[in-house]
Amino acid sequence: MRSFIAVLLLGSALAIPAMAQVAKPTANLSAPVKSFGRVSYDARSLMIDGERKIIWGGEFHPFRLPSPDLWRDILQKMKASGFNTVALYFDWGYHSPKQGVYDFTGIRDLDRLLTMAEEEGLYVITRAGPYVNAELSRGGFPGWLVNQRARARTDDPDYLKAVDEWLDQINPIIARHQINADKRRKGGVILHQIENELALTTPAQRRYMDHLYTKARADGITVPIFHNDQGRNGYWTPESSTVDKVVTGPNDMYAFDGYPGGTCTVAGQPTRDVAAPDWGYYGTGGAKGGASASPDTPGFAAEFGGGWFDYWGSNGGYDCNAIQRGKRFQRVFYGTNLANGIGIQSFYMTYGGTSWGWLPGPVVFTSYDYGAAISEPRALREKAQEMKQLGGLIASVPDLAGMTPAGPVEITSPNIQIYHNKSPETDARFLMVTHKPSNGQTNDSFTFTADLPDGRYTVPMRLNGFDAKWLVAGVTLGGQRLVYSTSELQSAQRQDKGDLMLLYGRAGEPGETVLRYSAAPTVTVIEGEATSRFDTAKGDLNLSYSHRGRAIVRVEGGGRPPLTVILGDEAEAVRYWRQGDMLIRGPELVRHATVKDGTLALTGDTATQSPLEIWAPGAIRSVTWNGGKIATRATPAGSLAATQPLAGPAAVALPALTDWRMAKGSPEADPAFDDSNWQAIDNRSSASITARPDGQPNMGMDAYGFHDGDVWYRGRFTGTPDAKALSLYYGAGGSGLVQAWIDGQFIGEAETPGGLPRPITTGTARFALPASAQSGEHILSIMVRNNGHNWDLDSDDFHKEARGLISASLEGGPSGRSFTVPIAWKIQGKRGGEMLADPVRGPANNGGLYGERMGWHLPGFDDKRWAKATVPATQAEAGTSWYRTSFDLAVPKGQDATIALSFGDAAKPRSPVRYRVLMFVNGWNMGQFIAHVGPQRTFPIPEGILNHRGKNRVALAVTSDGQPGDALEAVRLVTLHSVKGGLPVQMVTAPNAPSDLKE
Ligand code: GAL
Repeated sequence: MRSFIAVLLLGSALAIPAMAQVAKPTANLSAPVKSFGRVSYDARSLMIDGERKIIWGGEFHPFRLPSPDLWRDILQKMKASGFNTVALYFDWGYHSPKQGVYDFTGIRDLDRLLTMAEEEGLYVITRAGPYVNAELSRGGFPGWLVNQRARARTDDPDYLKAVDEWLDQINPIIARHQINADKRRKGGVILHQIENELALTTPAQRRYMDHLYTKARADGITVPIFHNDQGRNGYWTPESSTVDKVVTGPNDMYAFDGYPGGTCTVAGQPTRDVAAPDWGYYGTGGAKGGASASPDTPGFAAEFGGGWFDYWGSNGGYDCNAIQRGKRFQRVFYGTNLANGIGIQSFYMTYGGTSWGWLPGPVVFTSYDYGAAISEPRALREKAQEMKQLGGLIASVPDLAGMTPAGPVEITSPNIQIYHNKSPETDARFLMVTHKPSNGQTNDSFTFTADLPDGRYTVPMRLNGFDAKWLVAGVTLGGQRLVYSTSELQSAQRQDKGDLMLLYGRAGEPGETVLRYSAAPTVTVIEGEATSRFDTAKGDLNLSYSHRGRAIVRVEGGGRPPLTVILGDEAEAVRYWRQGDMLIRGPELVRHATVKDGTLALTGDTATQSPLEIWAPGAIRSVTWNGGKIATRATPAGSLAATQPLAGPAAVALPALTDWRMAKGSPEADPAFDDSNWQAIDNRSSASITARPDGQPNMGMDAYGFHDGDVWYRGRFTGTPDAKALSLYYGAGGSGLVQAWIDGQFIGEAETPGGLPRPITTGTARFALPASAQSGEHILSIMVRNNGHNWDLDSDDFHKEARGLISASLEGGPSGRSFTVPIAWKIQGKRGGEMLADPVRGPANNGGLYGERMGWHLPGFDDKRWAKATVPATQAEAGTSWYRTSFDLAVPKGQDATIALSFGDAAKPRSPVRYRVLMFVNGWNMGQFIAHVGPQRTFPIPEGILNHRGKNRVALAVTSDGQPGDALEAVRLVTLHSVKGGLPVQMVTAPNAPSDLKE
């Protein structure tokens, strides 16, 4: 598990403190424009239909949200939060249980996802692997690829053949969703990634890269193609690059990822010990730290920290990660990027979601919340609001795209630096005001003096604590001219023949906005307090105010169209949603604003009773909210205000989980268990990188077609006087497990440690054998839980590390050393192996527990013959016990909620007792709880998997060592997010009963 260490180091090692804001002439500003249909670029920016654009993206993984109707919810939340682009990883293994078998239906319907993105007007960056990393088991490679001897991520023909199978499927889907496929398309695929962090740069890798590129083109992908470099190393820069070549590839554009800015402490405290790096115009030169690793192509961060992942055994890091890479961090770091010419940025993650079933790689547990802008339960975090403000600016000021350094400004404080950029076309300015270094946290009052397009100005400013301000100056907005403002612009819109601006600042701080007129305009303060002064010589109207709640100023005359300025503090401004030419204040979320026949139809969510106020064109005669008519009145501020507040959600009543039934789930331990249909372990060849002792058979689970979850072994041997102990060498991923029995008697369990800096993914377990083992015939029963295959970050086939048993030997003897007694082993795993019994839920849903093989996890399984049981339980037998119950939900109609299953004391990251649970909700494996490892004990279940209006069944596979108290704690339902609104969600249809499973 090297990726995260590398990424951490990368974050700090390359995080050079910002230097004085003097740019080096390092981008090749005369590089020619390169065109790929509707998409083109030069060194300054990407262009769509010839128009320069900032690409403001967020990463989302459809496979981490197995409820397709909710994909749209995420896309709408992203769009409303100011993103114009969604970046999508696809997980090859998620679609392919077996070589030659592919599925793109139901929860795997990427065609549907890409259609939704187009409908929501989002640009798309596709990142289709073959390798993605992403804290996924095998980094997204399918299970069956583990059995391929060919070195992955090279030009070995066997590997390329496997890759082409996947690309034959996925490339055409992407191709038909390109923006190039239709002239009128408002969203769609604009950029395509062909490999991820391929840091080995040998000729074999180059030929592999060439193959991927050629294949994408042959399959009809016409947009620019890139690779995502692990850090700003200059790997796989375009061949055509004129300078600074490090490692070139066939790619059209160069992109990199970066997670600078430090991480939370183990105690869960944010750190601010690293300043934002200058990875562009203001850098110090050279491919590594410098101005541009690829001077002919625009700055492109294919991933930039939007949070960070959490690991088995942590204290629960997501809340802290949301702060660490949250509000203020975004302004400081994303702003520094933007100033450095990195106009294509995608934040990883923007919705993290759930690594359900056996998706997670060894380092991570079920929740992939990531501390992202949209939380795992699909709520907008505070940091999403800041993104809405920054995205609003980007959408309002197209001049920001393709800016170049404009020269230094004079600043009266040594604690402050200002990045000053301009648009070569319009001369509009971007002034990114931050501390020097940018992680400084002092409170500073200062002025800066700059030659701006409308004259030389000395501007009073404040910057308190870790923060940055994104100012614009000398910019034409609709019919207005903004000379400068010390407030930040969230929105500028044209409405009818007038203009509307929303500006905001830190609560209590003074603000000054200067607008240019040919003659003194009439200024009316409609609400709140503001003063104005007109400088006839310059034609400057200076509005002064303090950011406190809101003030509204109307400016008329002076040779310009009428202007309404809304001045808010941050708390006020984040309540506004920008939808086309409409500005809407009040609700938790505004998804859409569409006008038809004079009626404005708004859709969105309310978290509480909320006011509604709308600035809309005059032609609007009536308003609906989620389909219901809303009475409005015109206000002096030029808005329409609802006469009644919008209702908030009703409380969601959750039933207690009672009426449990229980069955024992490890019958394989019983000597009498019939394993006649199990596969015999033999000497078949192995592609594993894990060496096993000479003479031992190939015990690794993958060779037998079992790649995920639990696997059972039964071994028969004849006792010998030397057999004192059993030694098992096993591979189990992070926080994996092995349990062992002899002749039905439990002899112990062992675990691989999870955690940072590197989970230990294989181990040797030793169990004492009873004296009876010293003669006669015996049966060993062993269960191994595979908590994920490694990733292949370093292209060294690390994903082929063995899982399951690797070797087994008896120990004792005269020397106490291990010795080999022939043990005749058999193996059993997931029902059907690669021939999935349940292709709908797919490869990640099931492992090989007895109950899974029998379909006990399915909602339609009849458990009435099971024993009644009480939860919390006080005692468990060693092995696995299954608990089942059902419950009804009645979430009020028109409400969206995220309901979770929670185990034990939710306030603590770990339980004092040891056991683990696989939780199946309506047949879906929605996660693993490890009581003594933690930290996750509350598991959100998306609607569509959970039936919000009807019956649900839960089946828990509880695995214990049988020690007193190591048993299932209290299990309850909790609501994590509840709003009125949401989108209609269909249940995902899937096999209901064991008889529905394929043979
Ligand atoms: C990146 C990688 C992603 C993910 C991320 C950490 O380096 O490209 O796939 O692993 O690190 O979450």
